[in-house]
Amino acid sequence: MSDQSKSQSAVSAPSEPGSIAMLRRLFLEHGRPHLKSYLFAGLFMAIGAAATSVSAWLLKPVLNRMVDPSGFADLRWLAIGVAGLFLLRGLATYGYQVVLSRTGNRIVAGVQRRLYEHLLRQDMRFFQDRHSTEFMTRLAIAANGVRDTLQVVITSTGRDVLTLIGLIIVMIVQDPIMAVIALTIMPVGGYLLGRLIRRVRKAARRSYDGSARILETMQETVLGIRIVKSFNLEAIMRKRMSDSVREVERSVNSMASGMAVSSPISDAVAGIAIGAVIFYGSYRVSIAGADAGSFFSFIAALLLAYEPGKKLARLNLDLQHGLTGARLIYEVLDTPASESPQEHLPKLDVREGRIVFENVRFAYRDREYVLDGLDLVAAPNATTALVGPSGGGKSTLIAMIQRFYPPGEGRITIDGQDIASVNLVSLRDAIAFVSQDVFLFRGTIRDNIALGRPGASEAEIMDAARMANAHDFIMGFSTGYNTGVGEQGAQLSGGQRQRIAIARAFLKNAPIILLDEPTAALDSESEREVQKALDSLQQGRTTLVVAHRLQTIVNSDRICVIENGKAVENGTHEELIAAHGTYHAFFATQFGETTSPLRIVSSAPR
Ligand SMILES: Nc1ncnc2c1ncn2[C@@H]1O[C@H](COP(=O)(O)OP(=O)(O)OP(=O)(O)O)[C@@H](O)[C@H]1O
Ligand SMILES: [Mg+2]
Repeated sequence: MSDQSKSQSAVSAPSEPGSIAMLRRLFLEHGRPHLKSYLFAGLFMAIGAAATSVSAWLLKPVLNRMVDPSGFADLRWLAIGVAGLFLLRGLATYGYQVVLSRTGNRIVAGVQRRLYEHLLRQDMRFFQDRHSTEFMTRLAIAANGVRDTLQVVITSTGRDVLTLIGLIIVMIVQDPIMAVIALTIMPVGGYLLGRLIRRVRKAARRSYDGSARILETMQETVLGIRIVKSFNLEAIMRKRMSDSVREVERSVNSMASGMAVSSPISDAVAGIAIGAVIFYGSYRVSIAGADAGSFFSFIAALLLAYEPGKKLARLNLDLQHGLTGARLIYEVLDTPASESPQEHLPKLDVREGRIVFENVRFAYRDREYVLDGLDLVAAPNATTALVGPSGGGKSTLIAMIQRFYPPGEGRITIDGQDIASVNLVSLRDAIAFVSQDVFLFRGTIRDNIALGRPGASEAEIMDAARMANAHDFIMGFSTGYNTGVGEQGAQLSGGQRQRIAIARAFLKNAPIILLDEPTAALDSESEREVQKALDSLQQGRTTLVVAHRLQTIVNSDRICVIENGKAVENGTHEELIAAHGTYHAFFATQFGETTSPLRIVSSAPR
């Protein structure tokens, strides 16, 4: 039968160069650490294979004693022996299945951890280029592929190969010529089955892609349910879902029928082999007077060899689904980690917190500059407001201080240290950030605020909430800080979400505060409260705030107008109004106040 497995890999080698390399890699990376368990499973398989082969071999004395009346006493012992061998085989199967499942599940867990760890080390771009459900399919479904592949290969090579070897030895011992007849026909089956592989593999890939799209549609429907309902998008979403479901159904069917074709092929081949053996064997026994016991033992071995032989022949076919999963996993694992925490770099040492942009250029897409030679200073102990038209690059600038993207040209420094050459964790530790679109995690209000500084006390959490003007509305809920926020904060209003995010940033107590339109969703009363907190917090810190709201802007120490990726104007409110430039025009169109803006300033509470 080694002929057969050789022909099997010879068939698959030219068309699937990846399968062998993939298997080798899987074994080296995931199998080798569990070598001991696999050897243990192998031992059980060997016991099972030996039990099967010995029971086939015992048929010769059974049959020969049967035709000889004096042999009846021995037959009893033979019967007990065969029963015992089958029990042994059952126990061995139990043993290897338990060992293999445990090892396999440990491998899946390891792959999932490794994949997630790898994702955490990817930069912003990596995530923005992909849909979140791609990761879910890989983490949840494809990770099983690694286990399944190893499992199938181990069982086949262990149990099936060992059983076949044992049975082939029995066949050769009983009748070498018949063994040659039976075994030469087998490789033909292997060849025919090998031709099905490409089809099965393609279908497997399509089924993974389809599953990812099912998740995608599902996720977008749930998260966007307001829009789905309001715009009557049910029909469109239904069609999307039904297309993906159909795609998965089709590919799974195609995979199933590809695999099922293997049965008639192997049955036909095996039928020919068994027929030929029966023809030649009966001739040997009836005409040439050979020993009937050997013949029957041979036939038993051949029939018993059929199942493991068939499994081995379609091994490559059975592997395709798991291998496709493994390929998807490696696609992610092989993407180099684009963001390393760079622990070897020196920690950022924030002395006063002066942030300086020096001629920074940056493009998301090739040569489309979003920041185009930007110079900016955010002074310590002060609030710098960034104002300017939508799409001007304000959020990008805030992102770059946190090193979400590296500058294409120029540099960004904090107290003279280039942020590109400091330890990333220390950089982000020094920054408290409130993003333009607030994100809340699953859990309670307390959990969400506490993420600002894990380990903070209840009193500290409440203080932060008070400063963010959130404490009162939180206490208004019957469950207070234990109130759940729902997925992405869906159970709270926009302004409430925003204040929780501000509380989270306040709790972090970092020397640099970056706020991207923190008060956009607040009423003027709440805004005033948050503004007061910001003013009191500003001592000993650097605050950079993107602002569209009048109060926030006029209360800042400095205002910087960002337009087309440049800081076009820079100064205090009074200076910029007096300059009659971009800010003056911006202010006039935004707030309809050109004549005496200073009146607004004085009326704005400080
Ligand atoms: N991830 C991204 N990939 C490609 N382009 C992006 C990405 N994020 C932002 N942009 C583009 O960069 C430009 C600047 O965007 P940015 O979000 O910095 O503007 P903004 O000044 O914060 O605007 P707004 O006031 O509307 O928030 C825009 O033209 C935007 O389309
Ligand atoms: Mg923005």
